[in-house]
Amino acid sequence: MDSYLHLGEPVDQDNYVVCKYRVTTDLPIEKAAEAIAAEQSTGTWTGISTLNTEIFNNLGARVVDISGDEIIVEFPTDDFSIEVGAVPQILSVIAGNLFGLGALKGVRLEDVTFPKSILSQFKGPKFGADGIRKALDRPEKPLVGTIVKPKIGLDPKNTAKYVYEAGAGGLTNSKDDETLVDQAFCPIEDRTVAVAEALDRLESEGHKMMHAINVSTRGDKIVELAEKVQSWGAREIMVDVITCGFGAVQALAEDPSIKVPIHVHRTMHGAFTKDPLHGIAMLPLTKLVRMCGGDALHIGTLGVGKMSGSTKEDSNLTACLGNDVPYKTVMPVCSGGVYPGIVEAIVKKAGFNVQIQAGGGVAGHPGGVKAGAMGISQAVDAAYLGIPKEEYAKDHKELAIALETWGSK
Ligand code: 6PG
Ligand code: MG
Repeated sequence: MDSYLHLGEPVDQDNYVVCKYRVTTDLPIEKAAEAIAAEQSTGTWTGISTLNTEIFNNLGARVVDISGDEIIVEFPTDDFSIEVGAVPQILSVIAGNLFGLGALKGVRLEDVTFPKSILSQFKGPKFGADGIRKALDRPEKPLVGTIVKPKIGLDPKNTAKYVYEAGAGGLTNSKDDETLVDQAFCPIEDRTVAVAEALDRLESEGHKMMHAINVSTRGDKIVELAEKVQSWGAREIMVDVITCGFGAVQALAEDPSIKVPIHVHRTMHGAFTKDPLHGIAMLPLTKLVRMCGGDALHIGTLGVGKMSGSTKEDSNLTACLGNDVPYKTVMPVCSGGVYPGIVEAIVKKAGFNVQIQAGGGVAGHPGGVKAGAMGISQAVDAAYLGIPKEEYAKDHKELAIALETWGSK
């Protein structure tokens, strides 16, 4: 039987799914690479009588490059399901059993590139970054939002009050926290109705705003729940992609009855993105979210806020906004430990096509939620205008108080 090693052959992005893995092993790296290729294609560790040369040559994975601890493995498109855009099967091939291989101390899927034939199985975002901007009448400036805090305990009336104050202070976006769905302290129907009233009131006062209602629930109920919240007045929905699954995002995005953008949260991703030597980097997940139709996606704070870790967030930004795939762009969301003093640093890294959002950095302002919203909106305005925040703060007292309270980077 031929070897899985095809080192030096050109990478074939038209006919293969191309994966980059980082491998930590005591074995010679070629052996480790072969073990990955074998497990993920022929699926066994020894020669077997049922495997013929034709199968091996047409469907076997190929290791085409090894560079330091990074290997490039190609999987033929015929190893994947036909015409259904099935992420579970894709993940099973590119990110399945290999993580458990005893021969490897660690292995991390760093990146994946899909050929056109697979990309065309997916529809991408219905609204995307541009659609969200259009709905908000905010063509250029970074979007600026909040996560209603605390995560627990606010009832629908107080949630709506928070949203109204946030909008009155200039925020374009707000959202449920990832753990809030339909708890007794804040039932989803009452919350959605109350928030919708707050958004309508803001609109009647000339300010457009969106609030993402979290519909993360069991797979067989998620579209139904999204339809309900839409009928109760939701202008955006949110889904936790890792806990609900990519199929949930796709089901929501592809359902013709869902007519609002989908804000995608990534709670739990740190379980497999955080270790630099083992797991799955955020980048492949970002690419899959875009394929499945997420309109906005959390990408962290580009090394600036509380959740900064080992993920390569710049590449996630590119994966949201790049034009190398046949889909609308995704609004990248920078969230986690954000406060006015770091907005300038985030905008320097991310540019203007980004949604910056803060929970504590709004609700923790000494002047309350409205003043907090004004403070972070002013920070975004300063960054957009290219005016140093300290200078802008001279005429904008909410920003000045925020800088004094939390400092800056
Ligand atoms: C979210 C996220 C998140 C974050 C906080 C933000 O729901 O958007 O989980 O990225 O960690 O919820 O809260 P702070 O701005 O208070 O850190
Ligand atoms: Mg949160």
